[in-house]
This record gives sequence, C-alpha cells and structure tokens, in this order.
Amino acid sequence: MSETIIQVFKPSFGEEELEALREPFRTGWIGLGPKTAEFEEKFAAYVGAKYAVAVNSATAALHLAVAALGIGPGDEVLVPTMSFVSTAHAVVYCGATPIFVDVYPDTLCIDLDDTRRKITPRTRAIMPVHYGGHPCEMDELQQMADEYHIAVIEDAAHACGSVYRGKRIGGLSDATCFSFHAVKNLATGDGGMVTTNRLELVHALKRLRWCGIDKSTWERTEEGLMELETGTRRYATYGWYYEVHDLGYKYHMNDIAAAIGLVQLGKLEKANARRREIVAQYNHAFEGVSWIERPVEKEYIRSALHNYVIKTPYRDELNVYLKEKGIATGVHYMPIHLQPYYRERCKVTLPVAEAIWPKLLTLPLYPDLTNEQVDYVIKAILSFGEGRE
Ligand SMILES: Cc1ncc(COP(=O)(O)O)c(C=O)c1O
Repeated sequence: MSETIIQVFKPSFGEEELEALREPFRTGWIGLGPKTAEFEEKFAAYVGAKYAVAVNSATAALHLAVAALGIGPGDEVLVPTMSFVSTAHAVVYCGATPIFVDVYPDTLCIDLDDTRRKITPRTRAIMPVHYGGHPCEMDELQQMADEYHIAVIEDAAHACGSVYRGKRIGGLSDATCFSFHAVKNLATGDGGMVTTNRLELVHALKRLRWCGIDKSTWERTEEGLMELETGTRRYATYGWYYEVHDLGYKYHMNDIAAAIGLVQLGKLEKANARRREIVAQYNHAFEGVSWIERPVEKEYIRSALHNYVIKTPYRDELNVYLKEKGIATGVHYMPIHLQPYYRERCKVTLPVAEAIWPKLLTLPLYPDLTNEQVDYVIKAILSFGEGRE
C-alpha cells in the first residue's frame, strides 16, 4: 500500500493567518476579547444576520442554540439522520429527545414529508442540516415551523458561504450554527458560531457560552479602560463585578481562533470558488459513468461545496483501491440512528438513508488540491471502473 498523498480534506492556510496571530500575541488578549467581537461582527455582516455569537465548536453552538430556546426534558426535536452525531447529541445534552427524520435521495437533506409526519405536540424545533453545503428547502421548512409554532435551528457546519434563493445561509431562521473545525470551509482549528436575528437569544447565548456569567472579561475591561496621555489604551482598571444566573458552559471562542477566522473569512469566497472549479472537473469526468452517481446542486441554491460525495455500488472496493493509490476517501455518514448509542434508544427505520449510506463515498476536495492531483484522482477512479460499466 502506498503512502497517503492526497487527503480527503485539508485546511488552506498561508502566511496571512500566521501574521494575524501577531496582534493577540502582542497585546496578550488571547482569550475571549476584541478579536472575537470583531469576528462576530464581520461574520454576521457576511451571512446577513443581525447578530453572531462565537463559540469553540459547532457542537457547542448547537447545544447552546437548543438550550437558549429553552428546549429540555419532555421536548422533541426533529433531526435528519444523515449528519454528524453532534446534531443529535446537542438535543440529548439538553435532556430532550431527538426524533430522526429521513432524507431526500438526491441532496441527502431533510425530507419535509417525513418531517411533517413526525411532528407531535411535543415537537419544539426542527434542525435541518445543509448536507455538504447544499441548503435544505428552507422556505417550505420555515412555513411548516410557523404553522406548528416550532423553532428552526440550522446545522450549517458545512454551509459557510452557501446561498439559498439569493440569500446566504445564516440569517434565515431562529438560529444557525456554523463549524470552523480544522477541515471546514472556514477553519480556525476548532470554533463555531451561532447567528440569529433575535436579540434575546444573543443574551442567553452569551451567558451560556461562559459559565452563566453576565459579562465577558473584555466587556468588563472596556468599562474600566483608562486613556494614557499618548492616547493609546492601557488595560489598567478592571471592572471585576459579575453575576451568575445560569448554569452555563465553557464554550466561548478565543482571540487566537478569531484572528485566524477573520483572515479565513476574507478568503472564503475565493476558496469556495476554487472548490467549484474542482467539482466541475469531477462532474465533467464522471458524466455518463454508469456506476457513479454525482452529487446534485439544485438550480436555486449555491452550495459551499464542503464535500464531494458520490454514490456507487462499489463503495468499499473503491475506497480500498484508492487507498492503495495513496488517495484518502471518507464516508459521510453512517446514519445517526444506526449508531449503537442511538440504535438502542430510538428504534426507527429510515428507508432512504439506510439504502443510500452504503453507497456514499467522499472524494478529496479542498482549495489547495492542484489540477494535477484532481486528474490523478479522476484517472484512478476511472481505471478502477474499467470492466465494470
Ligand atoms: C453536520 C455537522 N454538524 C456538526 C458538526 C460538529 O462540528 P464541530 O466539530 O465544530 O463541533 C460537524 C462536524 O464535522 C458536522 O459535519
């Protein structure tokens, strides 16, 4: 077996990110501070939301969004099964019950007929996942949520830069949760963001992300700032008083991650455009290949193209074959309701996800993938297919 030469995902970092670290290192503000506030402001403006609250992962973002909406024991939340486990875990962390919903066979996004079937008087929220960056049917979903007076919490871990009917994902629902995990379209190592248009949620999210404390150290420091004669700031006094009214968590973002995030945000559109070029190469190469079903992109959306997932009956053989050629692939996902933790607790059958997931294979996709590497992957896949048409 050859060494892995092409990874399935890879962050795209340059000198700019390193340079951006100088300021927090120089000022000493490496915790929750001014860079985090700046990142929140710029991210909210980018996605078209009124507010953004930065946290240390999308898992934390999802957990806090469920908690801030007051969802708890006895409540149900509708979760598509085709996602990373955090989507369901966030509901369980709050003592509520995730109710798994099937997905559409083409986009792998939440199936709205199945969603409607599963609404009960206990349902408090729907958590659509924009699978691979492809936005869910948000208009119909929001209409359904309004009809039943339930909240919408979007899992937009894959959807940094995705557009639904002309609007960026991030300002469409009660709360949208993004991931800045190492291999996401915008990467800070680990990190996450909740965007919302509801001010009362912002207050709850900010309290909950830092142990229930009603003000951040930065805000308290700002209150106590003194001006030196030169006009430069000195962190001289410190408004020490705070109160704790909630059992919050230690989930806030830090300024090192935020400094990287600001640079990555500036590069996001270009990075997503490079993803689009690679996807076009894959799509062109696999057109008419009978044993490969290519991912779809509906005409009224623009995906952030977080991943490129094909469907093939030869999933496992192809995975091994490519590994031998030094090409890593992935599987996104084994449906959550089939994971042992959930299988025992919620016995449910979801025919589409169960039939499709054994065919899913994620191919390498990230902005730094060169055209030569893309060609190498394509040639390897087509050579695997010889004699299998
Ligand atoms: C769909 C989805 N939701 C949530 C998460 C959790 O993100 P994080 O690693 O930032 O907690 C991920 C991460 O892979 C994901 O893919």
